[in-house]
Amino acid sequence: MRELALNILDIVMNSIEAKATRVIIFVEESNSQNLLRVRIKDNGRGMGETFIKSVLDPFVTTRTTRSVGMGLSMFRQIARQCGGELTIESEIGKGTLVTTTFQLNNLNLPPIGQVADSVVNLYIGSIDVHFCYVHKTDHGVFSFDSYWMLVYMAQQDCQLYEAVGPAKAYIKQKLKTIKSKAM
Ligand SMILES: Nc1ncnc2c1ncn2[C@@H]1O[C@H](COP(=O)(O)OP(=O)(O)OP(=O)(O)O)[C@@H](O)[C@H]1O
Ligand SMILES: [Mg+2]
Repeated sequence: MRELALNILDIVMNSIEAKATRVIIFVEESNSQNLLRVRIKDNGRGMGETFIKSVLDPFVTTRTTRSVGMGLSMFRQIARQCGGELTIESEIGKGTLVTTTFQLNNLNLPPIGQVADSVVNLYIGSIDVHFCYVHKTDHGVFSFDSYWMLVYMAQQDCQLYEAVGPAKAYIKQKLKTIKSKAM
């Protein structure tokens, strides 16, 4: 089954394509509320209301707009199959917030997967974008800022690619301490 971390990657790629310079990825996993919520907020070019509607409904897509992809509508379909929903709040010139919810115990829920890998790979692919990844569970909250990698490089006097492994390991270890399933 496809991992949700890959869908998160798709949604963040949209932010990068929309020329965002700052992206916040907020994942909340709550067993007590039976809720998984993923929020991705950017300061990119934003979308108008009519456009948002067309993006979310693949059936209104006409032939000329077929090049408009499936990232958002596919993620929404997964959310709905899991008793959740995907919503988009956006303002042209200001940015976009994509919120996706899932029932955590839903049998259709794909594994969350390697969010650490997605976040670090996104950063090395777009080093001018500032990423912040916040992950919250019933056991605590952890955040990773892409500046972590710049600090690591300065401290170790090493290249960006040498910071990739340590960054992924750091995130995974922190996720373990808050008992996240995103492994
Ligand atoms: N964060 C965003 N900011 C601005 N525009 C966005 C954002 N996310 C999506 N869009 C717009 O919505 C369109 C549809 O996004 P979606 O991810 O569904 O498909 P796509 O990116 O075009 O193609 P695919 O994801 O399949 O490669 C995008 O082409 C883009 O115009
Ligand atoms: Mg896309």
